Amino acid sequence: MTMNCENRPAAQSIRGFLHYPGWLSAAEQTALRDDLRDVVAAAPLFSPMTPYGKAMSVRMTSAGRFGWISDRRGYRYSETHPNGTPWPNIPPAILAIWRSVSGSARDPECCLINFYSEGAKMGLHQDCDESDFNHPVVSISLGDDGLFRIGNETRGGKTESLWLHSGDVMVMGGDARLLYHGIDRIAPDTSTLLPKGGRINITLRVVT
Ligand code: SIN
Ligand code: MN
Repeated sequence: MTMNCENRPAAQSIRGFLHYPGWLSAAEQTALRDDLRDVVAAAPLFSPMTPYGKAMSVRMTSAGRFGWISDRRGYRYSETHPNGTPWPNIPPAILAIWRSVSGSARDPECCLINFYSEGAKMGLHQDCDESDFNHPVVSISLGDDGLFRIGNETRGGKTESLWLHSGDVMVMGGDARLLYHGIDRIAPDTSTLLPKGGRINITLRVVT
């Protein structure tokens, strides 16, 4: 694997998404998992309802000034968890990843944590609820492998897929910021990081 001068892997571009396979060491992944336990203790995972009244298969929670929520009123950023409390702070180790790879002068205002158990998936979508698309979305994968699909700026057309592994980081920015993307499925029992299995994806965004 090609490494850069900080001994981190170099990016591979897929349709302009920058994929850093194995960005996090095993020890960093374990530390991050434990940080997320604290976030989830303060802001429990919930199953969002789509505006169309269907429960999403992914469970989620957030850290930072804003969390991302969805219910009958629609998708949006919110300064409070559905239980009414503010979100916990973004763990410093997660901010450090953003500062290393985002190329953004600002820090993220939303750290969305998605938990995929076996059978969970996320349909093709664009990340377009933010007000300035000059800031990228940074995604961090932990736990079981996830099959990530990348499409185009509009629905339809050819897509490309790749497996995201525990410790991978992906930067969705620049000309690729508004490409459709999603998770087709996870591969159970491909990682031992999460004792009960499953996949965690963290996405970081500047919202305002
Ligand atoms: C997302 O696009 O919000 C999540 C992507 C992923 O789970 O890798
Ligand atoms: Mn997304």
